[in-house]
Amino acid sequence: MSTPALFKPIQVGQHTLKHRIVMAPLTRFRADPTTGAPLPDMVSQYYEQRATAGGLIITEATAISPGAGAPIGTPGIYNAEQIKAWQQVTTAVHKKGGLIFMQVWHLGRAGSNPVSSSDIAIASPSPLGGGAFDRPQALSVDGILAITQEFVQAAKNAIEAGFDGVEIHAGNGYLLDQFIQASCNKRTDEYGGSTENRCRMVMQVVAAVAQAIGDNKTAIRFSPWSDFHDMHQGEPTVDTWSYLTRQLNTHHPHLAYLHFMEARINLMEDDRLDEEADDSTCSLDPFRALWSGPFISAGNYRPQSAYNRAEKSPNNLVAMGRVFISNPDLVDRVRNHWTLSPYCRATFYSPGPDGYLDYPYYTPTPQLD
Ligand SMILES: Cc1cc2nc3c(=O)[nH]c(=O)nc-3n(C[C@H](O)[C@H](O)[C@H](O)COP(=O)(O)O)c2cc1C
Repeated sequence: MSTPALFKPIQVGQHTLKHRIVMAPLTRFRADPTTGAPLPDMVSQYYEQRATAGGLIITEATAISPGAGAPIGTPGIYNAEQIKAWQQVTTAVHKKGGLIFMQVWHLGRAGSNPVSSSDIAIASPSPLGGGAFDRPQALSVDGILAITQEFVQAAKNAIEAGFDGVEIHAGNGYLLDQFIQASCNKRTDEYGGSTENRCRMVMQVVAAVAQAIGDNKTAIRFSPWSDFHDMHQGEPTVDTWSYLTRQLNTHHPHLAYLHFMEARINLMEDDRLDEEADDSTCSLDPFRALWSGPFISAGNYRPQSAYNRAEKSPNNLVAMGRVFISNPDLVDRVRNHWTLSPYCRATFYSPGPDGYLDYPYYTPTPQLD
């Protein structure tokens, strides 16, 4: 039997992966509330459980600076304790032959230090509780350049901590998305108005990070169809992200990968497990077609839809999130068509090992003669 595309090697940056199942970035609130360092023993064990030889893991969103506005209990990559703790994580993953990219994050108006493209608050309630969002301060051009440098320093710190690369978080209504999207970017300077201007900050961040650590260690994540954090209100979606993808393909064709979230995902609800929703009206195909390197898609993939996607799109990898939480051996389960364990939403964000380190590995049911 020929090998399914999902288990065929693919080049990502300077590495050849052995399969195309990627662990999606997943915030889990298991960092020290004072230092923002991941709790090293627990977090390294969690990622080690999910690492596979020649498989890619993307970490939870990680704050680039104290001013990134990340919630207490999520990790950062801007001080020595954090770098040291992350070293333990990258070592554990590398020992198993896995690769690990860090997702680097500034929350903009969705965070505790609300700054944004314009001074428009998120009107919907916070998805994580905690009341209404505050009105952000519109960033000055100097402020934009300072945050760009914070992305650069965070990327350098990530490399120092042993990561194979960084994924710039430009989705889910966080800072870079707040510049891309006209629904919240009302600026009249060179960072607002036209598509080119709205994409200027994210393109500058990519260029600066790639220059610092190399194109092949730099990646980016977008969520063009998501309405999370009040995004996507009448955007010319295909035009905007096609522009971005074309620009990246022209100026940074050797980025490690582009990562796009599917439209069908609703982060706060449990989707039906076996569903491959019809995404024909809000597909990722227009963007996939404009990018010649590795393309990761994420959002409600299950084993069969992951196999199907890899067969259909030669450069595609599939990131899986919630089922990776509840199945540390997800890659083996998908490969062998074993059943998946269900996840428990109540422990997604709870501190401590419950629902973090204790999900079972697959054991076959004994056959009765
Ligand atoms: C608990 C939880 C935490 C998440 N944290 C992040 C995050 O830190 N960064 C990010 O880009 N996406 C985050 N996401 C979105 C996931 O990366 C993924 O795209 C989403 O869950 C859809 O994939 P799935 O259906 O396989 O879970 C999170 C999702 C969940 C459920």
